[in-house]
Amino acid sequence: MYSMFKLEDCLVRPSCPADRKDLIEISRGIWEGNDYLPKILDRWLQEDWFFVCEYQGKVIACLKLTTLPDNVLWFEGLRVHRRYQGKGIAKLMNHQLMRFAQQLKAQNPQLTYEFCTYYKNVESLAITRKMGSQEVEGYYNLERRGLVKTLQPEIITDYGTDIFCNHPQYLPLNWHVVHSVKNSLPYIRKHATVFKGKAGLYLVGSIGERCITLLSDLPDDLNAELPYLQSIFGSRKRMSLTLPASMSRQIPRLEASKFYFWGEDREVALNMLVFRIPAQQL
Ligand SMILES: CC(C)(COP(=O)(O)OP(=O)(O)OC[C@H]1O[C@@H](n2cnc3c(N)ncnc32)[C@H](O)[C@@H]1OP(=O)(O)O)[C@@H](O)C(=O)NCCC(=O)NCCS
Repeated sequence: MYSMFKLEDCLVRPSCPADRKDLIEISRGIWEGNDYLPKILDRWLQEDWFFVCEYQGKVIACLKLTTLPDNVLWFEGLRVHRRYQGKGIAKLMNHQLMRFAQQLKAQNPQLTYEFCTYYKNVESLAITRKMGSQEVEGYYNLERRGLVKTLQPEIITDYGTDIFCNHPQYLPLNWHVVHSVKNSLPYIRKHATVFKGKAGLYLVGSIGERCITLLSDLPDDLNAELPYLQSIFGSRKRMSLTLPASMSRQIPRLEASKFYFWGEDREVALNMLVFRIPAQQL
């Protein structure tokens, strides 16, 4: 039997390398063990603003703040140990980190708070809705079974703001979403690769779970593109492609090439949502 949980005994503090073991344990109970946290953990433990919640000497939750270009403070990696969910810990972490964020905003009034989540993450949506979050962008993220064949794509380096042509406001680098402004280009160069398939232009981020973002229009011969996309994931591995909301009419063509929406019911929907949390609501 567990003794009665006391939220007031929770300590939210910056993480340290010794928290690694507890954080891995948290991720084991999340998304049936398919959590990306273990892959990014060592990086986050070395970065600023990776916070944890300690309870009775054990780390039971975490939340990361990351600086993105154009004065964005990005909220990510919120996790609560399965055994401790539904007790107000995520809410506590969000509120404490919001207080911290407000201190950063006092130094930089242009700072905005943003995050991205899956459209059916009810817990995450419920918490952030109560914080006044507003949906600012949505994407279609589709998956496809891997092919055996891969072809090496051409890496493009001489790009500029032209990569934003189908992404006028925001551009996804995997599940990080940056503002489509010139100031974002150095970050994009550092944290993403732009490449060409047979006809299409794409981008893939270097942080977190890989999803290719379509930059150009969808090529006419989609099947000819597939080996180039596959090379990003490796032969036979499941691939993932993100399209802007403006390409809704292309979904049937993607489905004809065996792309599908993930989730139990495979519903066609803008499943990757970007939100902004207004500071004045806090
Ligand atoms: C999402 C997650 C962090 C929530 O943690 P938690 O500690 O259980 O959440 P809390 O107990 O603080 O709940 C916060 C609020 O969300 C609401 N909420 C929680 N679960 C909910 C659900 N299934 N449906 C609707 N609202 C829900 C609660 O009502 C609560 O609001 P209230 O206290 O004002 O009523 C946790 O479930 C988790 O780790 N999930 C897996 C990882 C994940 O999805 N992370 C977010 C990625 S963006």
